[in-house]
Amino acid sequence: MNKKKIVFLTGAGISAESGISTFRDSDGLWENHNVEDVASIDGWYRNSGLVIDFYNERRRQLKGCLPNNAHRLVAALESDYDVTVVTQNVDDLHERGGSTKVIHLHGELTKACNESKTQVVDIGYSDIEQGSRASDGSRLRPFIVWFGEAVPLLEEAIKEVEKCDIMVVVGTSLAVYPAAGLVHYAPQNATIYLIDPKIPGGTPSKVVAIEKKATVGMEILHKLLKNEQ
Ligand code: APR
Repeated sequence: MNKKKIVFLTGAGISAESGISTFRDSDGLWENHNVEDVASIDGWYRNSGLVIDFYNERRRQLKGCLPNNAHRLVAALESDYDVTVVTQNVDDLHERGGSTKVIHLHGELTKACNESKTQVVDIGYSDIEQGSRASDGSRLRPFIVWFGEAVPLLEEAIKEVEKCDIMVVVGTSLAVYPAAGLVHYAPQNATIYLIDPKIPGGTPSKVVAIEKKATVGMEILHKLLKNEQ
């Protein structure tokens, strides 16, 4: 029998219990930096040294973090479902939690690339050294989709969402487009679950709201899905 398809759309909230801070829970600052300075293409042109330092720090921090039970429970569903994770997160905690199909809409901390993003290299948790050059001579940069840049994996993510039976949104404020718009591509008859400790009023009634942090919410989801089978 064909497995049902679940697409997860995850954001910073799923990694919060692993010790990684979210973006909009801290007054527009990200680890004490103005988001525009460290996470926009203009910020890169203004001060690439600051941007490289900032992501080196994030990468070092990530090395010391572990996937939490929410990441693991997402992966565990692969035994009964065809699971695709579309994440806005640049950490690798879904992969380390066991997920095998992960689309990183906003790039990956463990990779670097040339300025045109045509050459991507795995760097693991090592620093990008200031002044490093890619093989085409351009500046080596973090492989991150910054504000002001295209989201190349969006089409692939849309195709996955269009085929889903179940969509689960976990730990995202849905404030950043185009990622936030992905829910609108879910088929009419798909069930949509939303897991977040702060669910805004006005959420459509067809959405099953689980107003809990990710680890607790994912346990509830497992039970709900079991009852459905
Ligand atoms: N479990 C689940 N959700 C949580 C938890 C938790 N323990 N703690 C906080 N949250 C929720 C918050 O209530 C909020 O809805 O996680 C969400 C985090 O929202 P944002 O900080 O806006 O993060 P995200 O939606 O991932 O941001 C999207 O913005 O700056 C960019 O590119 C960056 O990918 C990022 C994008």
